[in-house]
Formats: sequence, C-alpha cells, structure tokens
Amino acid sequence: MTIAPLFELKHVSHRFGHFPALTDINLQLYPGECIGLVGSSGAGKSTLLRLLNGTLSPSEGEVWALGCNLNQLSPRRLRQVQRQIGTIYQQFHLIDTLRVVHNVNAGHLGRWSLPKALLSLLMPLEVETAAKALMQVGIPDKLYARTDRLSGGEQQRVAIARVLVQNPLAILADEPIASLDPERSREVMDLLRSLGEQTGQTLIVSLHDVAMACQYCQRLIGLRQGELVFDTLTEQVTPTMFDALYRLEP
Ligand SMILES: Nc1ncnc2c1ncn2[C@@H]1O[C@H](COP(=O)(O)OP(=O)(O)OP(=O)(O)O)[C@@H](O)[C@H]1O
Ligand SMILES: [Mg+2]
Repeated sequence: MTIAPLFELKHVSHRFGHFPALTDINLQLYPGECIGLVGSSGAGKSTLLRLLNGTLSPSEGEVWALGCNLNQLSPRRLRQVQRQIGTIYQQFHLIDTLRVVHNVNAGHLGRWSLPKALLSLLMPLEVETAAKALMQVGIPDKLYARTDRLSGGEQQRVAIARVLVQNPLAILADEPIASLDPERSREVMDLLRSLGEQTGQTLIVSLHDVAMACQYCQRLIGLRQGELVFDTLTEQVTPTMFDALYRLEP
C-alpha cells in the first residue's frame, strides 16, 4: 500500500511583484514526518510555509494539502482544510491587548461558532484546555496575563499553546525557537517532536540553527535564493551541502 503525501508541491513558483521568492519547487511531504527547512535569511522558508497553509497562492504550479488542490477550493472548504494545519508564525500573530487565555483559545476558532467565540471573550470557555496547553509549554502561571506584558520567548510559547489547542494534523512552525534561550529552545523542540511521536502529527519547521535541525528532524530541505538545493535524510547531509546553502557568493 502506498501512503499518500499530506502535502505536495508541483512545479511551484512564487513571485512578490517581479521578485522570485520561490522557483519551481517540487516536494512531497508525508504524514508523521518531522522535516526541517533550512537556508539563509530570504531563502524562501516562510514563503514555503505560507504556501503550504494556503495563506499564499502560488504564482505558478499547484499546492496540494490533505488531498486537495488548495487553489481550487471554495473559501469554506479551504478554511476546513486550514483547520487541520496549525501554523506557528515567525511574528507570533497574537493579539497583544488580550489576555493569554484568549490567544490560546483562538486555537478553537475554526471549530467554535461565532456566538461561542464572542461569549468566550467575555467569559473564557474551555479554560482547562488552555491551562493544560500552557502547562505543556512551561508557562502555566500566565493564563490571565496580558499578552503584551510577556517576554518574546513567552509569547512564542503562547503561539505554540494555541496550536496545541487547535490539535491539527500538521504543524508548520516558522522559527519557533528564534526568541528562546538554548534551554527553552530544547524544551520547545522536544515538545514539538513529542507531538509527532505521540499523536502522529506532521511537523514542518524552519530553523536557522542547523545543529538543532540536524538533531530534531529526520529530513532536511535546503533552500537558497528560492531554489531547492537539497531534500534528503538528515543523516545524508554533508558539511559541503550546508556550505553550499550558506556561503555568501553563489
Ligand atoms: N510580502 C512580501 N513582499 C515582497 N517581498 C517579499 C514579501 N515576503 C517575502 N518577500 C521576499 O521574498 C524572499 C523570501 O522571503 P521569506 O520570508 O520566505 O524568507 P525566509 O527564508 O523566511 O527568511 P528569514 O530566514 O529571514 O525568515 C525575501 O527576499 C523577501 O524579501
Ligand atoms: Mg522567515
């Protein structure tokens, strides 16, 4: 029996205006994989993650997720697919003026009716679930803190707690440890990896820290100036391949 990919990119290019952020990318990502996206700043990692979750449409080619061509879905069907894809954004995408519990509860928004979501803003619902998620990310005491009073690393963890509450099939994490100290970085990566091991969630994570990527991911995708340089098992990546990815001159 062959396993269907959870995500597939077929000859995908993306341009911002005339600028080619990604060029002719072909990828198949399978359920349960833990995949690291590596490459220097501007290589196209965030763009790739946004194509996978359907918040960006490709200029050319097709992006398939959960068996659907994202470009051909109605807005309603696209939202249904997006409920199964949790994204931890590089800039967190939290509402600063709300208390943490509300930002964590935003993980329910795809499932909750509008009245329930509005009611929860007045009187937080499912507080236990939010508290459990905050416990998992190591900040149980911040449930009622105002989000803008948290440090960058704590906000990062609120963004992760929101995805835990969403409980999607796949987690796309864009630099989830960028604002954390080394000890917290390992905790967060352990947590993300354990989700894959315990619940079979697929993890696609962009990381600047190559050592972390090698330690936590079984497969690495290397991007350079919008092009796919390698897509290989981590154990097969050589120092020369990393040099090619990060050296300043092509
Ligand atoms: N909205 C946008 N408008 C114009 N150009 C953009 C936009 N978003 C990204 N770009 C450009 O596309 C290229 C790829 O950007 P992207 O954010 O995907 O890189 P990245 O690999 O995530 O970088 P970093 O490691 O710094 O986060 C960059 O050169 C960037 O300047
Ligand atoms: Mg980025």
